[in-house]
Amino acid sequence: MSTTVTLVPMTRAHIDLLLPHEREMFGTEAWSASSYRAELADTRLRHYVAAEDATGALLGWGGVMVVAESAEILTVGTVPAARRRGVGRLLLTALLAEAVRRGATEVFLEVRVDNDAALALYDGEGFARLGVRRGYYDAGRVDAVTMRKELPA
Ligand SMILES: CC(C)(COP(=O)(O)OP(=O)(O)OC[C@H]1O[C@@H](n2cnc3c(N)ncnc32)[C@H](O)[C@@H]1OP(=O)(O)O)[C@@H](O)C(=O)NCCC(=O)NCCS
Repeated sequence: MSTTVTLVPMTRAHIDLLLPHEREMFGTEAWSASSYRAELADTRLRHYVAAEDATGALLGWGGVMVVAESAEILTVGTVPAARRRGVGRLLLTALLAEAVRRGATEVFLEVRVDNDAALALYDGEGFARLGVRRGYYDAGRVDAVTMRKELPA
């Protein structure tokens, strides 16, 4: 990777920076500013990180929820201009590390069946496909693949 990437705890200041990308990246599943504010406020169960370049520009962000021994990846995204430089993998690795730190032994996620980039990322990081949730996205039009990965103790 040519750019220096730094992971920092995501703050409310990052919400304004990510919103212009959110709709383009997540379409009908895009979250609002108030959704993100609520997510960030729930520090007991959730942990969000942001990736920045050397100038502080936002490259990506992601979040994980840990309830008892199970974690769930809530979102992961890399802004289009910064893709294929390892940012997504870095974010995912940090979220998994936090899940382990909080005592999770397994992690789940859902991903659109047509999201080849994300499926490749998760396949590569050791997630196994569990099944399909019919009509999970786009008001019943697009299925989700559910994935699971065991975490080290
Ligand atoms: C999925 C996403 C987060 C990947 O981010 P990224 O920073 O480009 O990913 P990385 O550069 O870390 O890539 C890691 C691996 O993922 C896979 N991958 C990433 N993008 C890919 C693509 N377009 N096609 C195929 N494989 C891809 C590759 O295996 C890659 O490893 P490699 O570069 O060594 O081959 C990004 O495409 C994105 O933000 N998409 C829109 C939002 C989204 O779909 N989020 C996931 C919701 S479940």
